[in-house]
Amino acid sequence: MTTVSIRKPDDWHVHLRDGAQLTQTVAATARSFARAIVMPNLVPPVCTVEAARQYRDRIRSVIPSGTSFHPLMTCYLTDGIDPAEVAAGYADNVFAACKLYPAHATTNASHGVTDVRRIHPVLATMEKIGMPLLIHGEVTDADVDVFDRELVFIERVLTSIVRDFPGLKIVLEHITTAEAVDFIREGGNQVAATITPHHLVINRNAMFQRGLRPHAYCLPVAKRERHRIALRKAATSNSPQFFLGTDSAPHPRAMKESACGCAGIFNAPVALEVYAHVFDEEGALDRLEAFASEYGPRFYGLPLNPDRITLERNPWQVPDVVDVGGQDVVPFLAGETLAWRLQ
Ligand code: NCD
Ligand code: ZN
Repeated sequence: MTTVSIRKPDDWHVHLRDGAQLTQTVAATARSFARAIVMPNLVPPVCTVEAARQYRDRIRSVIPSGTSFHPLMTCYLTDGIDPAEVAAGYADNVFAACKLYPAHATTNASHGVTDVRRIHPVLATMEKIGMPLLIHGEVTDADVDVFDRELVFIERVLTSIVRDFPGLKIVLEHITTAEAVDFIREGGNQVAATITPHHLVINRNAMFQRGLRPHAYCLPVAKRERHRIALRKAATSNSPQFFLGTDSAPHPRAMKESACGCAGIFNAPVALEVYAHVFDEEGALDRLEAFASEYGPRFYGLPLNPDRITLERNPWQVPDVVDVGGQDVVPFLAGETLAWRLQ
């Protein structure tokens, strides 16, 4: 096969940042995706309907002309979040979902939830109105090994959320472990998971290849090879519980190449092409469309995109660095050659 034509995909998890960075982040995502679930971990976080509306306006103002792109906004859950605010934002079509960051789990998560019991009222409201809960599934306890944080979150936190709110739609974001794959599969219709391009391509060795590689560092951190293999199986399994979410998360080069480097991989310039490459390697190109363009909207209860895009086998080299808001950012797979290209 030398071309693949699919319904235009959506990105169900992206960090577009703000201010000067928006021009490039929005263009990079809108190039491949018709809609995107926009993460709310700004400084300060997006916790109100008004903040989300204004952020959406800023995003819309930089959409390249002639491109159709719909940002879907999320509400950052805090211990003190007001269920009425969340419900109002959902009813007004401003909030598409809420995002649960355990406090201090990742970039700009310091205002996150300290104990899930504190947000039981908002979870009950979301369950009632059918609003999805998106979860960064890692515990933050210092005594839990970094590589076990997703598994321990599933055991200590997620299992009880699913049990206490059986009607709540839950997306476990950017899964990285075989155990998460199993949990989702066994969870039935209530739960789904997004899978990033980078977790399909790298395992944890990528961070230590002949030296320390900060551009392979993200959260949840990449795990052992057996987990990467499980993720590839899940993504290509044609299960509606697994769909595309890039977790594209740019940080300026200087913030990554630092004594305390930021977590996050900027993959928007290559994301769709990398998924195509992975599905091709797995002999599953015929399943790319469902993963990229059908199962996400189906879970969120949104219509499928009418437009189509075509990927062609036409090798190109990923730039070493790209400009994002006047600062250098090293994209995922910088300098490497990709087989697939978006027409
Ligand atoms: C994200 C970021 O930089 O905002 N970083 C990351 O490593 N994925 C936050 C997140 O999704 O964890
Ligand atoms: Zn993220």
